[in-house]
Amino acid sequence: MITLHTLQKMRDTGEKIAVLTCYDASFASLLENAGVEILLVGDSLGMTLQGESTTLAVTLEQMIYHTRCVSRGAKKAFVIADLPFGSYQESPQQAYRSAAMLMAAGAHMVKLEGGRNMLETVVFLTGRGIPVCGHIGLQPQSVHQLGGYRVQGRDENSAAELHHDALALQQAGAGLLVLEAIPASLAQRISQELAIPTIGIGAGPDCSGQVLVLHDAIGIYGGKTPRFAKNFMAGSHSVQDAVSAYVQAVKAMSFPTPEHSF
Ligand code: KIV
Repeated sequence: MITLHTLQKMRDTGEKIAVLTCYDASFASLLENAGVEILLVGDSLGMTLQGESTTLAVTLEQMIYHTRCVSRGAKKAFVIADLPFGSYQESPQQAYRSAAMLMAAGAHMVKLEGGRNMLETVVFLTGRGIPVCGHIGLQPQSVHQLGGYRVQGRDENSAAELHHDALALQQAGAGLLVLEAIPASLAQRISQELAIPTIGIGAGPDCSGQVLVLHDAIGIYGGKTPRFAKNFMAGSHSVQDAVSAYVQAVKAMSFPTPEHSF
């Protein structure tokens, strides 16, 4: 059984953590048998499963359903469920009610997007037994405010803001932190300075682990794939082989390369 303690130990000993998104029981079993340590029930399911152009339409009920499916299929992996747009931003109490339903559906941790604006909520949840994974950098739920899916933290000021957000989230009790689409050098600095594991997506090779959207990793997403994604089906004979190749590449730090980084 992989726990937060296992993941912290992996970070401390330098073993890279392999993460993929997962939305159902069959894939949960396949992914964990191929060595994936964390299954992220991401609200990216709005795009990969539902064909939406953003994650904004995903509901809490849908996240509960998919979390339950994944948790039934997973026997050892650590399961993180996304709090969807509109289910947590109003107040820590609203976040607690939503997070409690995801935990009851089988999640071991919930993920929320935001930096210092979310500190009160992170303190509230972690103080009540709900582990929290932060998510900073490109926050897909804020795509319209950001003006598109853009790399974040490129200039000195925004890099400093992200750095502060990361430290503050750790201080508030976050147990993991996703860094999405930020310069590799900034992710390296943040990962060195934090004591908790960082999980990168488009954030270079120096995070404690890497995450990809499953449909990108096995090349079946019909929409535009981001530059930081890689299709591991190329050169593989089966989905199992492709997932194993992803896990091996993360462990060996041969993914991501500069081609997949900023
Ligand atoms: O929803 C998701 O798949 C995510 C990953 C991109 C980190 O949040």
